[in-house]
Amino acid sequence: MKTDRKLLVRALRGEVLDRPPVWFMRQAGRYLPEYRETRKRAKNFLHMCYTPELAVEVTLQPVRRYDLDASIMFSDILVIPDALGQKVEFSAGEGPVLEPVRRVSDLNGLHVKGCPDRLSPVLEVIRTLRRELPPDKTLIGFAGAPWTVALYMVEGRGGTDGSTARRWAYREPKTFSRLVDILVEATTGYLIAQIESGAEVLQLFDSWSGVLSETQFEKWVIDPTRRIVEGVHAVYPHVPIVGFPRGSGLMACAFIRETGVQGINLDSGAPLLWVRESVQPLATVQGNLDNQVLASGGQAMDDEVHRILNMLSSGPFVFNLGHGIVPDTPPENVARVVELVRR
Ligand code: CP3
Repeated sequence: MKTDRKLLVRALRGEVLDRPPVWFMRQAGRYLPEYRETRKRAKNFLHMCYTPELAVEVTLQPVRRYDLDASIMFSDILVIPDALGQKVEFSAGEGPVLEPVRRVSDLNGLHVKGCPDRLSPVLEVIRTLRRELPPDKTLIGFAGAPWTVALYMVEGRGGTDGSTARRWAYREPKTFSRLVDILVEATTGYLIAQIESGAEVLQLFDSWSGVLSETQFEKWVIDPTRRIVEGVHAVYPHVPIVGFPRGSGLMACAFIRETGVQGINLDSGAPLLWVRESVQPLATVQGNLDNQVLASGGQAMDDEVHRILNMLSSGPFVFNLGHGIVPDTPPENVARVVELVRR
């Protein structure tokens, strides 16, 4: 099927469809027993991301199980710091651990020119997926947005409030900009390469944008995202880009207007009446089922799915979560949601 005719692409071009396309952030992952099996075959998490055979397999697992409209390549946002030369590890049960970037001299150890080589297995994953995916499924590529990736690079781990990165950004905006500029350049090149390998839609994950004040959000979320969107669209103007500025609240509208994204993934805190009246006229909305209601299931989940469908299906809309699937989610709850959306 031609890319133009695929449901996700049509929705992101602003079409209102008979039923919304559906996919889930983190649709591949530990909540699936078959993922946990494949994971045992990899030395560690990054090894799995860089081994095309394994990464392709786990990408396809949710698409085999559920009737989803899109497949997101299996990788992680922290492959960029890894490819830039920072030490990145994923320790079991602890999440990512990085050797933190804390001063200007640490920036000299980061090299954009190393990225294409290190990231070439990811492009191989995309090329293989394009051959193996059923023809009606849209293939999504992604990267972390500079602010969120910088936050992990500076903090050295997840689970912080980002205070070290936030203070650096206030105290020394010039040097912090250098880090962000490196990320803009590396990410733009990486996303262009993803399109050239077969990605049909791109998503930029900015999971920690919600910790920023208005001025800092403009500076470190909107501005770098706009530069990436411009850079990618200068070469491939028709490839839709979805932003995920998690926790952006009322800044979502400025984010859309100023970055030029075609879609915005909203978190579950976004009030749907506001979304319908103020956000949907500006861009295609993706979201925003609470990942915790997906984990708990039952009538509460059915009610939330219906509420979202009723409120947002009359405009350009893609059904998704407000944040990725959590590991203890029963797989049958995902099947149930897909059934409700497709009905
Ligand atoms: O959506 C998909 O199915 C594609 C795969 C994907 C992963 N990470 C796989 C993964 C995507 C899109 C990501 C994005 C990502 N990675 C984000 C942005 C989205 C979000 O959830 O906020 C962030 C912040 C990361 C960084 C990251 N990677 C963390 C904090 C962790 C540890 C926490 C956790 O959930 O385990 C990871 C590891 C990771 N990335 C796993 C998976 C399936 C689990 C690793 C394992 O199998 O042990």
